[in-house]
Amino acid sequence: MMDWTDRHCRYFLRQFSPRVLLYTEMIVANAVLRGDRERLLACDPAEHPVALQLGGSDPEQLARAAAIGVSFGYDEINLNVGCPSDRVQSATFGACLMAQPRLVGDCVRSMRDAVRVPVTVKCRIGIDEHDDYGFLHAFVSEVAAAGCATVIVHARKAVLKGLSPKENRDVPPLIYERAWWVKRDFPSLTVIVNGGLRTVPQVAEQLGYVDGVMLGREAYHNPYLLPALHRAVHADDFQTPDPASITQSMRIYAEREMKAGTPLRAITRHMMGLFAGRAGARAWRRALSEGASRPGAGPALMDAALSAAIRFP
Ligand SMILES: Cc1cc2nc3c(=O)[nH]c(=O)nc-3n(C[C@H](O)[C@H](O)[C@H](O)COP(=O)(O)O)c2cc1C
Repeated sequence: MMDWTDRHCRYFLRQFSPRVLLYTEMIVANAVLRGDRERLLACDPAEHPVALQLGGSDPEQLARAAAIGVSFGYDEINLNVGCPSDRVQSATFGACLMAQPRLVGDCVRSMRDAVRVPVTVKCRIGIDEHDDYGFLHAFVSEVAAAGCATVIVHARKAVLKGLSPKENRDVPPLIYERAWWVKRDFPSLTVIVNGGLRTVPQVAEQLGYVDGVMLGREAYHNPYLLPALHRAVHADDFQTPDPASITQSMRIYAEREMKAGTPLRAITRHMMGLFAGRAGARAWRRALSEGASRPGAGPALMDAALSAAIRFP
């Protein structure tokens, strides 16, 4: 998620689940080719498994960007065919590409030829007036024929004219059945459903129809959903981590990162959910957000915020 799932966020979220697949923000292929790769693509070994999401529509550029991504260690390359923003549309990538399934197929083929890790596609159930199941079916047929073995379906359509990106995440109705039908009609495809999932029972229901779920906003705001899901899905003894041990681990991470020039706030801004659903949540958020912008703030702020959360629940 743009501006959210940067490497600091992913490092934080990894503490909550050893196996969940994390995704980068969408990174434009051309930026990978021409920009500051280290800044765009660096990731910590602890983040794995982690997928790089690329935006673009030029098969050759995407192939080169995918290969560079793999050289940075990414475990999967995902193509964004779901973002509705104007900026992305004017560059002809994101959700508007659903209208060009052949081109998306060419992009997938080209990336697959360039890398050995899985190449996956994230799409919507439709765009604008192209919102019947036949449209989605034709799109998926094309990308599956190109060798994409995993499709992530955000189960609402994108309205390309008239809705903001934020509205496009809430206004068009969720129609999970469309993703279920994709699994029914393409049984060998791994189908992952996304959109509006916030609880273990909601996820469990989806897993009756598709192979997996992708969580966006809820995982960010309430990361304890991740260990709850881990325990529901995997038969092992993974324990829900406690805020004190995560604070300790993030403090060590922040010490290292700050030495390399990362501002403290770039890390703490993603940690607001550490007390989500627990006593002390407000005190934690307050201490962290007020303290991080004070001159000279250092990693010890995390301990102070932890004490505040425990003392003033
Ligand atoms: C701040 C923000 C940024 C997002 N950026 C991306 C992105 O870069 N790539 C993408 O595929 N989806 C992006 N999304 C959409 C989410 O991945 C997801 O599809 C959407 O929020 C619906 O899932 P949810 O209800 O679980 O959040 C973004 C969502 C938010 C809230």
